[in-house]
Order: sequence, then C-alpha cells, then structure tokens
Amino acid sequence: MKNRKLPSLAGLCTYEEASRVGYSVDRNVELLKRYNYVKTRLVDIISKHMNRTPEWEVKGAFSLHIWLDAEHSQLIRKRVAEMREPPLQLDKVPTDELKIFLNEVLHSDCTLELLVGIYDVVRSYLLNALKRHLAETNPLVDQPTCRLLTLIISEEEKMLEWGRQAIEILSEDEEQSRRSVLWKEHLELFLAAAFGISGTEEQVVSSLPLARSEKPFELNLVPQRDERFTDIFNNFDYPDQAYKDETLDPKERTWALLFKRIREMDVPEMMCSIIAQTPGKPWEYYVDMCRQIWDEVRHSMMGEVAFVHKGIDWTKLPIRINWSYELNTLLTPLERHAILYDVEFGLMPGDIGKKFELEVVKKSGYGLAITFQDHDWADEVLHAQIGRKWFVKEMKDHHAALELAQQAYKKIAFARPTYPIEQENWWNDFMQSVSHISLADEKLV
Ligand SMILES: [Fe+2]
Ligand SMILES: [Fe+2]
Repeated sequence: MKNRKLPSLAGLCTYEEASRVGYSVDRNVELLKRYNYVKTRLVDIISKHMNRTPEWEVKGAFSLHIWLDAEHSQLIRKRVAEMREPPLQLDKVPTDELKIFLNEVLHSDCTLELLVGIYDVVRSYLLNALKRHLAETNPLVDQPTCRLLTLIISEEEKMLEWGRQAIEILSEDEEQSRRSVLWKEHLELFLAAAFGISGTEEQVVSSLPLARSEKPFELNLVPQRDERFTDIFNNFDYPDQAYKDETLDPKERTWALLFKRIREMDVPEMMCSIIAQTPGKPWEYYVDMCRQIWDEVRHSMMGEVAFVHKGIDWTKLPIRINWSYELNTLLTPLERHAILYDVEFGLMPGDIGKKFELEVVKKSGYGLAITFQDHDWADEVLHAQIGRKWFVKEMKDHHAALELAQQAYKKIAFARPTYPIEQENWWNDFMQSVSHISLADEKLV
C-alpha cells in the first residue's frame, strides 16, 4: 500500500525520537520561566547601558538584540500561558542566585566587560541550555516548545557570533583583555552558584568573590560616543531646513535627508533611557519600544550605508548628541515620551512629513535613498501607532499628550546649556566636498 510509505508524524521526527520520555509540563514551565527571566534582564541590562556605551557599532547591535530579547520573552510568555499555568507569575524572580548573577552582569564597568558578560557568559550558557532542552524534550508532544526553542536558538547563534567578533576586536588591548578574562571567571562563579541557566547544573562553589552588585547600580544617562565622533554638540540645524527648501537642488535636499537619517543615532539613546526608568509596564510595551529602538537604529544605518556607498567618511560629520543629552538629563521619562510622540506625530502629515521626504529623494533619482525613505516612512507609521497605543492611552487623550510635550520643550529651553561648536556652518564645506558625486546613478529594482 502506497500510503504506508508516506512520511509519518507530520515529518517532525522518527517514531524512536517521539518515544523519548522527555520533559513534563511542569519541568518545561520551570525552564521556560528561567529563560524568560534571563531575557527580561537582558532587556533591562542593555537599556541601562545604551547611553554609557560609546561605540556606535555596539549601540547598533544592542538595538537589534534588545528587540530580539524582548520578542523572545514575549514568545516564551505565550508558551508558558499555554501550559496549564495560571497564575502565570511571569515577572517573578526564579531564584535569588540567578538574580544576583544577572545583577553582576549589569555591573560590568566597560564595553569589553559588558560584552563578555552578555555574550561570552549569558548568551553562551543560555544557548547551551536551550539546545539541551531541545534535544531532551519530546519533539512530538512538546512541538510548540521545540518550535520556539529552534527560533530562539537560531537568533541567539547570530547574536553570539556578533558578540564574539566584537570581543575579539576589543581584546586587542592587552590590559583590557586581562581584566575581561577575570570578569568572565567572576561571572561564571555566580552563574555556577545559581546552578546554571537551567538551575540543574550542580557545581561546587566553595566561596564567591565580593559581588559588585552589593552597591547599587548607578544609571548614567549621559550619551557617550567614541573618539571618532567630534563636534557632538553642533546644533547648527540648516540640514533640517534644507530638505524642505523647494528652491534648492534635489541633490542637496537628499544629502540633507541622509544626514538627518544618520543623526537618528540619538533616538535609541533617548528611548533606552525611557525603558530603563519605566519598570512595571505590560511586557508588550517593552516589545513595542524595543522594536522602535531597532527601527530608529536602522534609520541611522540607512544614512551610514548611503554615505559609505558614496565614499564619504561619515565619522567626520558633526553628528550631535544634544537631543538625547537634553532629554535624558533634563526631563522625566514621561516628558521624554511626550516629545517622542510629538515628533512622531509631526512626521505623519503628507505635506511636510515622511511622504514629503520620499517625494524629495525621488527627485534626486538616487534609488537607494528612495528605498530607504520608503521603508523609513512605513516604520514611522508604525511608531505613530505605538505612540497612540501606549503614550496617548496613558495621557488619556491626544491633546493632553501634545500639551505635555509643549511643557517639556519649555523646560528644556529654560535649562539648555550653551554648547561649544567647532564647525560653524559646516554644511557649505560638505556640499562642496560632495559636488562631484552623482546621486542619480542607481535604478530601483
Ligand atoms: Fe526614525
Ligand atoms: Fe520613529
């Protein structure tokens, strides 16, 4: 009979694999809750380190990874809820030891230590635990968990790969490298005291070193940028006007928009400060905020890619930090969110917002910039929705939301410091330097 040869068990596994006793529902839930705790703490740790981390490439990867971690937590929470588990207690700390281990990671005090903590220790051991879970649970009866684990494992592997490459580069400094090896050993002892990520890895830890987290973590929300960035307080805002100016060459207006894109580096800095200081929201709030953080970094990367594509050293541009610096240091998290909402809302009208920006770059004929602005517009529509979903709801209505933004602008105007500017009106020099570069040389696919 032909049908005897059809693949069985929906192609998931063999009869032998499906005969594995595997994990009980309770054991699954216990493990998933531990992974979920690790994921929620990674979101917390990254949000608290975004501003104090100077390297742009690290901020970029953190922005992708914080969103993936938030999404993974969301998926795990959903799976736990499917497993006979009310009350869910998804924000309960599994054990004090696991909490202390992750507190220690939070207390990393330079980029290399932080990367070693997040990637070489947390993600590396988490990946092992996830793989073991996948290999041991029953692939048929626990298929929804297996699907979830497979997805998380594939994304964790990519995150870990980035982390290992970054650690290798930063370890070229011998003194830093030596300190990071000691830090890794320090963290591994605290992880062993928590019986590993799974809570079942029994290891003898005779004594633990002094925990750095005995002292409270000092949140530093002043945005740091690495030494490539100079003139970081340059608030000369001509590019903000130039792209709107119908009398200018579309090429100049497109350069102005590409500069506006790369300058979005400050949005993840500001948004991470909101998350870092806004605990206790429904998890979906953090998922949405982290998604927006990653989108804003992609917008900045759009500018970065376009400048690289045209052979321009973007690090010479005065990419300012005034906005994130002022919002992070002068406003409450809610006031910051009000300004974010006001900005995003202002991007929606067709005659001045994202639709208009797309029309401007279309006139330049630069296909890459057209693709970028097209996607940027789509992302911003999502951000306006996120603003309505969380911020307007909290403020009760749209007018109250905009009113708080106006108050926040006034607060900033009153307290704004005087900034040292190195490159006065740098735009003319920049335009001179790119005058030989053609933009209309790409075709839209
Ligand atoms: Fe953006
Ligand atoms: Fe946005």
